[in-house]
Amino acid sequence: MSVTWALPFNVKIKPKLGENKVVDEKVYSEIHNKTVENYREFWEGVASELEWFKKWDKVLDDSNPPFYKWFPGGEINASYLAVDRHYNSWRRNKVAIIWEGEPVDEKGNPKEVKQITYADLYREVNRVAYMMREKLGLRKGDSIAIYLPMIPELPIFMLAAARLGVVFTVVFSGFSSDALATRINDAEAKVLVTADGGWRRGKVIDLKGIADRSLEKTQFVKNVVVVRRLGNGVRMQEGRDVYFDEIMRDIPHNVYVEPERLKSEDPLYILYTSGTTGKPKGIVHDIGGYMTLLHGTMKWVFDIRDEDIFWCTADIGWVTGHSYIVFGPLMEGVTEIMYEGALDYPQPDRWTSIIERYNVSILYTSPTAIRSFMKYGEEWVKNHDMRSVRLMHSVGEPINPEAFEWFFKVVGRNEIPFGSTWWMTETGGILISNLPGYLMIPMKPGSNGMPIPGLEADVLDENGNPAKLEERGYLVIKNPWPGMPLTIYKDPERYVKVYWSKFPGVFYAGDYAVKDKDGYFWILGRADEVIKVAGHRLGTYELESALIEHPAVAEAAVVGVSDPIKGEVPVAFVILRQGHEPTDKLVNEIINLIREKVGPIATIDKLYFVGKLPKTRSGKIMRRVIRAVTMNTEVGDITTLEDEASVDEIRKAIQEFKEELGKQ
Ligand code: WT7
Repeated sequence: MSVTWALPFNVKIKPKLGENKVVDEKVYSEIHNKTVENYREFWEGVASELEWFKKWDKVLDDSNPPFYKWFPGGEINASYLAVDRHYNSWRRNKVAIIWEGEPVDEKGNPKEVKQITYADLYREVNRVAYMMREKLGLRKGDSIAIYLPMIPELPIFMLAAARLGVVFTVVFSGFSSDALATRINDAEAKVLVTADGGWRRGKVIDLKGIADRSLEKTQFVKNVVVVRRLGNGVRMQEGRDVYFDEIMRDIPHNVYVEPERLKSEDPLYILYTSGTTGKPKGIVHDIGGYMTLLHGTMKWVFDIRDEDIFWCTADIGWVTGHSYIVFGPLMEGVTEIMYEGALDYPQPDRWTSIIERYNVSILYTSPTAIRSFMKYGEEWVKNHDMRSVRLMHSVGEPINPEAFEWFFKVVGRNEIPFGSTWWMTETGGILISNLPGYLMIPMKPGSNGMPIPGLEADVLDENGNPAKLEERGYLVIKNPWPGMPLTIYKDPERYVKVYWSKFPGVFYAGDYAVKDKDGYFWILGRADEVIKVAGHRLGTYELESALIEHPAVAEAAVVGVSDPIKGEVPVAFVILRQGHEPTDKLVNEIINLIREKVGPIATIDKLYFVGKLPKTRSGKIMRRVIRAVTMNTEVGDITTLEDEASVDEIRKAIQEFKEELGKQ
């Protein structure tokens, strides 16, 4: 394929940044090459900056690729690094987390704000770890599931589990009962931590109700700990469910739970992420490598300093929050904002007001958020003083140059460093990014910049050769990096197949990318059928399985189509069973079923009824073809298609829908 992309390859902007940190890309490349040549030594240097209980015997065990082990022989604890170290230092009384709840009073001021110091965090993490061990009987190697909204108990439970070597899996609170049940079952979680509810855009989410429904589908969970967020009195099952405040009541304030001396390559957590086919993949991250990558990227990407107020606007339910709300920032001893709700609630200037009120200096947000702010317009921005912001980045999906330029102007004063950090659940931390805290190359709006030190990335063509510059190819990572997955939980074969088989010996990310003549990377989006809704990864499989659970649905296909704000939205094509009519009522029923099964983020944007779906002769749905027809782009090669009439079916359904809209 030879496609030239109309991207602003040649636009270069030099940010205002002190200490001669802005360098020409050639200078960066030379220095970068040296770190790649000696990547073991390089990462060893980074790891040495952490506090280990015992030093590693070897930097990297590469005897059984792709199952690499970083820092084998080393002993470490992530909870110790994030909490104890600061408790034992001058940072003891420094504020770790400024938490702001979503609800506001009649004047529009937040009703609840909590300032949690490192000493507070230390005490609570110890108390919760004690409770988990003494009352719930959890031990190293056990696993738990955490299904909580953005409240302080969420990081506290993660850190308490990490302290004991209990493997946790956090399930995003926007996921529904089936999604939760699948994850609990796969992780074999013994305990579920949830809440009596949560706030989102002024509405209550009934987390306990959803959790109860998912527990009907699992045998593993013995106890449910329920945090009271709303105090609304939910149904509690005798013997299984217990309120968090009640189980904690008699635990003294000064208990100390010694952090387990865990192996560097012990698992820290499992985080489920969607792929093209099959159920979600449980990505397992280690401790030593993961924490090393986070330490490096907190410095290079965020240039983190003690005086900063750091704000990552993601939800902890996604990897961004694991790495850059919980483990990364806390390990560095920062003061950070944790905000419970929607960035535009009750008004579009909630986010600007947070920046202003707390003097946020580092902002990490998403292209979808930026595009929605852009839509609300500049009037929501200009009455707020945001000059405290000195550095920003976006993440989750490609950022269109227009959104970059707008945000750079209205928040960045056309001068501060701003980038688009590329990474994925699997990579553990940021891998391709502008690096204002290391050496920063001039910015190009829409580009991701270059790989971090120690990491070799490339863009390959279909045959595994380096793609021509400025031509689209597949993004790969060519050397092991700390923070890489240990495996897919309980499915190592799938780990090999999905990531290490398309091009032998290198990690296949599943993204399209181009490299320009200056060596900058531009990640263009998924090369598989994964859908990115507002930066959140959704697999077609989960959506389609929910669809066919409806009694009227015989077959279903879901594709992602472009959306000006959310990047992509899911669109469904459905074949009805005999005897069912395509009515508006049915459309609503099916759409609600998906919300119910997967969660509100999975809301189908449009649903079309068709008589046939484009398939290959072997019966595989050709989503690529459906997507092309839906978006009115080139359909491309359809020689493997079984029945060409199916493509017309899709066209017809879309056409009829448009005509229907025209009539209204
Ligand atoms: C996919 C991974 C890692 C944080 C959140 C997403 C896309 C992520 C960028 C970016 C272009 C990006 C890729 C990737 N992506 N960041 N800066 N520019 N694309 O994690 O849910 O595991 O999704 O997000 O397509 O494969 P995730």
